[in-house]
Amino acid sequence: MDIDWSTLGFHYTETDYIVRASFHGHWINGELVGEWSAPYATRNKMIPVHAAATGLQYGQQVFEGLKVFRGVDGKVRVFRWKDNALRMQASAVGLKMAPVPVELFELAMRLVIAKNKRFIPPYQTGATLYLRPILFGSMHRIAVGPGHDFEFVIVASPIGPYYPGKFHCTSFIVNRRVDRSALFGTGAFKAGGNYGSSFRATETAHLAGYDCLFLDSKFHRYIDECSAANFIGIKGNEYLTPRSTAILPSITNKSLMMLAKKEGLKVTRRKIRLEELADMQEAAACGTACVISPIDKVYDPDHEITYNFGAEPGPILTKLYHDLQDIQYGRVRDTHHWCTII
Ligand code: PLP
Ligand code: COI
Repeated sequence: MDIDWSTLGFHYTETDYIVRASFHGHWINGELVGEWSAPYATRNKMIPVHAAATGLQYGQQVFEGLKVFRGVDGKVRVFRWKDNALRMQASAVGLKMAPVPVELFELAMRLVIAKNKRFIPPYQTGATLYLRPILFGSMHRIAVGPGHDFEFVIVASPIGPYYPGKFHCTSFIVNRRVDRSALFGTGAFKAGGNYGSSFRATETAHLAGYDCLFLDSKFHRYIDECSAANFIGIKGNEYLTPRSTAILPSITNKSLMMLAKKEGLKVTRRKIRLEELADMQEAAACGTACVISPIDKVYDPDHEITYNFGAEPGPILTKLYHDLQDIQYGRVRDTHHWCTII
């Protein structure tokens, strides 16, 4: 194995094993009843799928993303995996799929880590082992409706930072012509369909040198999400983040909110008008992949306005970034019990 850990980007690298488990069941009076198989590891990354599977036809697919860290003490830590397991359950229920029991999620996760432990990057390379749990409908069904058979898979891949340059600033452009999610749509679920349907906005933004900032789909007035990440703004002593039915409840954001409170900041979750960016000193996107990616500017092409935050990451978000990474890499005591040592 010859991996240059420190130059890895956010790309798939082939590992030794994936882990799989299957659900077979039936719908009885609106309730899905059935059983999960035990998880098993396999070297075969190819999954035979029926051409009429509900995952392929009707988008019955949800996923997760979490990181495995090699700490300063050499120990292996997984960050808040139970929150990912519970969010995957919520996503599954949202798309009328069989939720993966937390115990099964944990067994599969531990198995995929054990089987791929040689791919856990060394400390201080900036790389981690990324786990991508996936759940999809495997039953053939032409009639429009949910299936009753599902496949749970965890793929593992060592990855580098989502945005190259580690703690690097990103620019966003507003798009009022493409919505990521309807107000009461699937935005709060981690459904693959949310991403595919956003590509025409995110790819247009990339071509222009930006990432895409999504606004609420009803008024196009309030900030929803930063591409595939939550938004955070710092206004004086306040940590501001949007409240919306259409955004994914980010585990990173939830953690940062607690750390921000500890730092003495006032934490507020509410609707945030786009123009409020003018009153903020710092802004960032946050998520598992990038942790915190400071925003240097947001461009609103419809009104030809640019909101500038400066080319350098601001002091408050920089502090929060290090506070969180210190916990993830075991450099400070994990007083919140967020890390599971494997
Ligand atoms: N928002 C979207 C749309 C995402 O895909 C993600 C990534 O998982 C996030 C926010 C950040 O969530 P988390 O911090 O749990 O990774
Ligand atoms: C994240 O993990 O922060 C994400 O944005 C998920 C994305 C890579 C699908």
